[in-house]
Amino acid sequence: MGYRFALIGYPIKHSLSPWIHEEFLRKANLQGSYQINEIPLEGNFKEEILKLKEQQVDGFNVTVPYKQKIIPFLDKIDESVEKVGAVNTVAYEKGKWVGYNTDGMGYVRSLESKFSDSLLNKEQRILLLGAGGAARGIFHGLIDNGFRYIDFANRTMDKALSIRNSTAKPIHSNIMTLEEVEKHIHSYDMIIQTTSVGMNPNSEQSIINLENIRAGSIISDIVYQPIKTKFLKLGENYGGRIHFGHTMLLYQAQLAFEIWTGKKVKADTMDEKLQQILEGR
Ligand code: ATR
Repeated sequence: MGYRFALIGYPIKHSLSPWIHEEFLRKANLQGSYQINEIPLEGNFKEEILKLKEQQVDGFNVTVPYKQKIIPFLDKIDESVEKVGAVNTVAYEKGKWVGYNTDGMGYVRSLESKFSDSLLNKEQRILLLGAGGAARGIFHGLIDNGFRYIDFANRTMDKALSIRNSTAKPIHSNIMTLEEVEKHIHSYDMIIQTTSVGMNPNSEQSIINLENIRAGSIISDIVYQPIKTKFLKLGENYGGRIHFGHTMLLYQAQLAFEIWTGKKVKADTMDEKLQQILEGR
């Protein structure tokens, strides 16, 4: 029968996770399947989770809007969940349901897959745009990897402050408004857009102007619909090295698959294919 994995969330009918994990299974020479369990907002969440547990799946992914709601249904949470307060991966381990968050580390892996040399410099200055759940995960992924200079620009300053205060590590971090940061944009080596601004159908929007970025800086967007967002187009026009959002999807899945099966499969060759699938939509 092989491994059995699932995804819960809403809406998830068009999720790319089944494709990604079935590719991983094939690459790892393992038998298995990955099913979609859409739970409507008005559905009985508790009942759905009990059903999933009864089916004895080996693990499941959790996406919006259930990343926090799942926590009380787990027996144990990993350190990655304590930091971020949200779960995206659940594994059945020795009779216990264990929650993990692979988003932040997956994001860092996606960066490493493309910019391995420039990521060796932990002194580089990083800017996070936005301060929601995605920013929180990426922030912890970055500091766990040794980065120490991470500023925030966000519409609501308090939310950025709450993320900054969620670590006890000695880091350097300034918080600014989105207007203010445009004046200092040349001082960053890496700029990471973590909000949904620019996502279809608002593909003409960019959260800030990138006119004064430093040539060669890394310009990264977690939005992947469209693949090349307005933010990335601006970054490219002004001499930045761009990093696509769909790669985060790939590497957070790689890490989840590793937790479930103990096998690390290469994901870099899937990047282009995933891009084609998304472009064909
Ligand atoms: P997620 O958990 O997926 O990251 P979220 O919690 O809704 O999503 O967070 C989205 C982030 O995008 C927030 O920081 C939000 O800004 P606020 O903190 O001020 O709410 C930011 N965001 C969303 N839409 C925005 C917009 N149109 N302009 C600026 N920031 C926006």
